[in-house]
Amino acid sequence: MNNALRQEYFAALGLESWVIRGTAAAAVEPREIPVPVVGSAPAAGSALPAARATRQGTAPREAIVAREAGADWRELRARVAACTRCSLSSTRTQTVFGVGNLQAEWLIVGEAPGAEEDRQGEPFVGRAGQLLNSMLRAIGLAREQVFIANVLKCRPPGNRDPAAGEAAECLPYLEQQIALLQPKIMLAVGRISAQNLLRTDVTLGRLRQQVHRFGAAQVPLVVTYHPAYLLRTPTDKRKAWDDLKFAREVCASV
Ligand code: URA
Repeated sequence: MNNALRQEYFAALGLESWVIRGTAAAAVEPREIPVPVVGSAPAAGSALPAARATRQGTAPREAIVAREAGADWRELRARVAACTRCSLSSTRTQTVFGVGNLQAEWLIVGEAPGAEEDRQGEPFVGRAGQLLNSMLRAIGLAREQVFIANVLKCRPPGNRDPAAGEAAECLPYLEQQIALLQPKIMLAVGRISAQNLLRTDVTLGRLRQQVHRFGAAQVPLVVTYHPAYLLRTPTDKRKAWDDLKFAREVCASV
């Protein structure tokens, strides 16, 4: 990517004064990657504390781990489209399976579809999606190169936070997507995504800038701000840029 184009992306990110030296690879100072990290790696496919899921009246988390194991992309997509495992199935327009390159090295995981995503059936198509695209381009990735999914496949009414039981029921779909994709790196965007994937209540601020590991395959997972948050709080875009550079470094080291 040439420098002028890269500067356009920084402008889109609100980082007009950022100066890039050399190539994309050289733009990040080489340094030791601090591999794991915060607590222990989550168990295969684990996402929410079982107790929280149980409180919501759903099956314990462990009981539904690997529920979708063995499904190929086509089968998985069909299962998601027909899913009635939680009450969000009665309020959605359609499920939002995820989109992108099935050979992607990067898996981006957001929270849940919003109104526009519910309408179009594709994640991150609204304003937050535009910013996400700019963030990806800033580290040399086209939207078409990555795979983008959410913790939830259905929109929570009024864009409320996902309930623990909803996330517990839905995460096996994401876990099977990860098993099929075998990404080199996962980027959790936003607190809800990070906390559900890492089974923690630790704040996003404390989860950033570390290499976490997800699931049996111990996929490296990096956490950054949600683009919708960055639209509301542009002063944190610079920290998001640090996270993206960090994630790119981690990916290059895998
Ligand atoms: N926010 C998310 O977390 N995911 C989407 O798909 C859209 C907005």
